[in-house]
Amino acid sequence: MSNGNNTTKHNITTSSQQHITDKVYIAGHRGMVGSSVWRALQTKGYNNLIGKTSTELDLRNQQAVTDFIKAEQPDVIIDAAARVGGILANNNNPYPFLMENLQIQNNLIDAAHKADVQKFIFLGSSCIYPKFAPQPLKEAYLLTDSLEPTNQWYAIAKIAGVKACEAIRKQYGKDFVSLMPTNLYGPNDNFDLMSSHVLPAMLRKFYEAKANNTPVTLWGSGTPMREFLYVDDLAQAVLFAVENTLPEHLYNVGTGSDVTIKVLAETIQNTVGHKGDIIWDSSKPDGTPRKLMDSSKLRSLGWEPKIGLEEGISMAYEWFLKNNNLNPKK
Ligand SMILES: NC(=O)c1ccc[n+]([C@@H]2O[C@H](COP(=O)([O-])OP(=O)(O)OC[C@H]3O[C@@H](n4cnc5c(N)ncnc54)[C@H](OP(=O)(O)O)[C@@H]3O)[C@@H](O)[C@H]2O)c1
Repeated sequence: MSNGNNTTKHNITTSSQQHITDKVYIAGHRGMVGSSVWRALQTKGYNNLIGKTSTELDLRNQQAVTDFIKAEQPDVIIDAAARVGGILANNNNPYPFLMENLQIQNNLIDAAHKADVQKFIFLGSSCIYPKFAPQPLKEAYLLTDSLEPTNQWYAIAKIAGVKACEAIRKQYGKDFVSLMPTNLYGPNDNFDLMSSHVLPAMLRKFYEAKANNTPVTLWGSGTPMREFLYVDDLAQAVLFAVENTLPEHLYNVGTGSDVTIKVLAETIQNTVGHKGDIIWDSSKPDGTPRKLMDSSKLRSLGWEPKIGLEEGISMAYEWFLKNNNLNPKK
């Protein structure tokens, strides 16, 4: 494991407790991130949370979003709604990954601005940074070079969201802030192999291979390095941004440590109790050799992750066993 953080303490405006009665709208409250943020706020005592499913409120519909925000007048909006997916889903659906994400975030940000909502927390991802940016990735590397082509559609939408929040902050002095989490995992993750990210996909593959007593085949060489954050640690970062006025517009949110995909696979194999072989299919692409975020800016303000990778994988697997409705082929 390697560390991407070099932490110095900085001052922020803290306004904890006074927000407990605030009306907080969590867009995407049924998703992995939104549901974790909901639990974190509820546990802290927030009792005026609102959420709408995509069937109740389609965030691509500008008029519906404007009317909803105007009627509800939330004090805080957390945007955890997005069209999300792994490499395959991104590569096969460039238009919806660009357009739906632009529509969702533009509608929410503009409705929030027009209804004079003072605090907006926008969630993006590490793919906003250039493909060949130095590691660990610092916020300052945004827009310094070209993006990874496979997920550029999603990345460009997210960069537009970051810039919209920055523009509102600069022009109107409102507390609009963007948090860029590293790879996340945890309860309510997506375990559909056609659209899932690497960690939940591996959990499912090892679970099914254990049941079927078969080896597990994984893409690439296993040598790329990736960083993983348990989603409840991200939710604590969101809570931190709800309760404090952060001095800048953009913060990375990660553990500061990364592992090889091989170590990740072995950790998941041990957790699941799969005894067969792991076959590395080197005809499949590896992707970027390394992707580690520098989250020292947020850490210097006081947030820090609490859940290690092994502990997090155990908790995610426990959730998967209790809640998944997959039927491994016998
Ligand atoms: N997953 C990761 O590894 C990861 C990593 C970094 C950053 N993030 C960021 O975190 C945010 C949330 O990701 P997630 O993993 O929680 O995704 P998720 O589990 O797929 O949840 C996405 C949520 O968005 C809502 N949504 C999608 N389209 C909508 C629409 N047209 N109208 C209304 N709601 C809509 C869905 O609502 P319904 O359930 O009601 O349909 C769902 O609850 C995204 O911005 C993503 O970039 C995620």
